[in-house]
Amino acid sequence: MNEQPASLPSVFEDGDAYDLVLKDIPYGLDFYVALARAANGPVLDIACGTGRILLPCLQAGVDIEGLDLYEPMLRTLRAKGAALGLSPRLHQADMSDFSLPRRFALIMIPFNAFIHNMTQEAQIGCLRLCREHLLPSGNLTFDTFFPSLEFVSTPSGTRPTTRASNAVPTTDSLRHVAPSASSPSASRSAVRAEVADPVGERSTSPSAKIATLRW
Ligand SMILES: C[S@@+](CC[C@H](N)C(=O)[O-])C[C@H]1O[C@@H](n2cnc3c(N)ncnc32)[C@H](O)[C@@H]1O
Repeated sequence: MNEQPASLPSVFEDGDAYDLVLKDIPYGLDFYVALARAANGPVLDIACGTGRILLPCLQAGVDIEGLDLYEPMLRTLRAKGAALGLSPRLHQADMSDFSLPRRFALIMIPFNAFIHNMTQEAQIGCLRLCREHLLPSGNLTFDTFFPSLEFVSTPSGTRPTTRASNAVPTTDSLRHVAPSASSPSASRSAVRAEVADPVGERSTSPSAKIATLRW
């Protein structure tokens, strides 16, 4: 149901590279972990990625499973789980086309991931399957990007590009994320991520990645 454009690789095809940029982002973390703990039953983390939310939930004793379309993201999640002595139950599937034997007290789709349902058919399919996979009084929770009128009214290719840099706490290195090319699609940017050493010298290593990111 969900089709990916062919021009550039998805940012989700290398879980370790994805983590260079996004694994320490606290967005929604406390909210979703608290929700999962309060669910008092099994939890499904849809589009779980590299486990930014799922692993802290497991560490908090939540009975949680993860689902994601991209095997490289799940591979990175498994490796991180193994390093913590955890073996998460993971499913590789499209969120608009999945079938699991269990029913859940909480299904969550954190960090704007619902937008990866690329068509209205996929969005409705995902919502329908979530309902089918919920226990009778279960809840579905997701967050999604709500752009400003100014943002959506700016024609494709003319939005100002932004560059963000922040420290990676564990290594003292810097990471830089910069949209580096416009896409013909209004909702996609090519993104280049690089890791620099503590004095700001850019790495020329393969950790410099370019991929597409859907906003
Ligand atoms: C922005 S990441 C969010 C990851 C994680 N939920 C978090 O909070 O860190 C979006 C995730 O959606 C996954 N994804 C993209 N399209 C998908 C689809 N059609 N079905 C399931 N997962 C998908 C990607 O592999 C990626 O892990």
